[in-house]
Amino acid sequence: MNREGRGATAPHSIALTGPQTFTGNRALDLEEGLIFEIGRTEVTGVDIPEPAPFRDRLGTQARTAPLDLPGLCEPEAMRHYVRLSRMNYGIDSGLFPLGSCTMKHNPRLNEKMARLPGFADIHPLQPQSTVKGALGLMAELSRYLLELTGMQAVALTPKAGAHGELCGMMAIKAAHAARGEGDARHVVLVPESAHGTNPATAALIGYQVRSIPARPDGTVDPEAVKAALGPEVAALMLTNPNTCGLFERDVVAIAEAVHEAGAYFYSDGANFNAILGKVRIADLGVDAMHINLHKTFSTPHGGGGPGAGPVVLSDALAPFAPVPALVATAEGLVLVEDEGVDGAEQALGRMSAFHGQMGMFVRALAWMLSHGADGMRQASEDAVLSANYIRACLMDLMSAPFAERPAMHEALFDDTWLAGTGLTTLDVAKALIDEGYHPMTVYFPLVVHGAMLIEPTESESKASLDLFIAALRDLALAAKAGDKERFLGAPYYAPRRRLDETRAARSPVLRWVKPAPVADAAE
Ligand SMILES: Cc1ncc(COP(=O)(O)O)c(C=O)c1O
Repeated sequence: MNREGRGATAPHSIALTGPQTFTGNRALDLEEGLIFEIGRTEVTGVDIPEPAPFRDRLGTQARTAPLDLPGLCEPEAMRHYVRLSRMNYGIDSGLFPLGSCTMKHNPRLNEKMARLPGFADIHPLQPQSTVKGALGLMAELSRYLLELTGMQAVALTPKAGAHGELCGMMAIKAAHAARGEGDARHVVLVPESAHGTNPATAALIGYQVRSIPARPDGTVDPEAVKAALGPEVAALMLTNPNTCGLFERDVVAIAEAVHEAGAYFYSDGANFNAILGKVRIADLGVDAMHINLHKTFSTPHGGGGPGAGPVVLSDALAPFAPVPALVATAEGLVLVEDEGVDGAEQALGRMSAFHGQMGMFVRALAWMLSHGADGMRQASEDAVLSANYIRACLMDLMSAPFAERPAMHEALFDDTWLAGTGLTTLDVAKALIDEGYHPMTVYFPLVVHGAMLIEPTESESKASLDLFIAALRDLALAAKAGDKERFLGAPYYAPRRRLDETRAARSPVLRWVKPAPVADAAE
């Protein structure tokens, strides 16, 4: 069993006393090996008789040696996965301050709705006439998204924010191509504060990325955008509110400049949760924007899925929406999947198999309906209030750049306050783990040094915010008082100690290698 990194001694100030246990467990903090280490090839949780003609059918392809897969009996399998799950930190364990990620509570009502058999048990290949309710739900969700943004069309199928970016940028590319400018416009402007997915998306579909510097107040200067615009520019990708947690106050002037230059304005809507019910995106001059249902609309973040990143499009881009399109006909709602149908001649084709993440659509609409217009507006107001409260309560100890402007959904700190302590942003993040919190986003956005980006969301109570603030204040005071030990060895109390993150990223060990059999002592 691999116990590397466990059990090193904590500093005296927070001494972890007591002997090493025989099992590696620390009371309810249970150690768990890899399934390969604890499983035994001779054990299986199921016992299915091999069908008689099976071997004959495989002929020479039949396996001659055992597969060597680890076997566990049912209780062992159950315990293995439950123990692993307890090493996870999730939004149901505590405040999850990861900035830019909007880790908000996933209401159980949404889960209940998504589990209704009429939604959970349908199949995308069922005839449309048998899933009218599901189509109705997709139409209702679309209607809400269009109402909230003021935009013209929506594509529900993208499976994540980044996938939505791809969809929106492909629509922009198709629109330029339809104007005969596809080759001429090969540059996309991306501010340096952008999330990494923005330049990645632009590059993925063949655009050259031109960076726009941030001005000293953390926002984008329309003059810098104008200077970078030209007949070769296809689009600007701007996140608003941006990744410094600031509303781009010159967004309208920026959009006008972009349009005057014949380019389109892509708005990264990952932070829509800060302005939901307050700002109609269409009024800002946006041509395309993705909306992360797993952020603003409280659906769960999965490890890379199942997410949903619908894209809303302006009048100009609506004809370039991907299929399928949900169309109201005399016979009711129909998913139009074939190109060549009215309005779909210039469509991109499909962004994904089938019709999108139905389970996420149900959850997002449940959140919208249970909040109502006033509730959604209050959710964004509360998210902004929470972020400003955190910033105000920490600013005397931790340096907060751009604090002359109100924060939107997240509070940004840099590492100036750590000067002279011998500690870094990473040390603070690791010490926060010992306090029972997932660390905030660190070293992003890149426009400030040693960034610590905290997004509390509206779903935290004041008591929960106060405890988090108190923990961070305690850490800040300890750092300033020179208690380096508390930080440099952290985390002391996590299932694993501090890892070499560079090595883990550069040379990950992704394959378990069976240890050589131990030589028989008698030989
Ligand atoms: C500003 C911003 N843009 C885009 C994305 C990408 O969204 P997703 O993770 O859903 O692909 C994120 C995700 O954190 C983000 O914060």
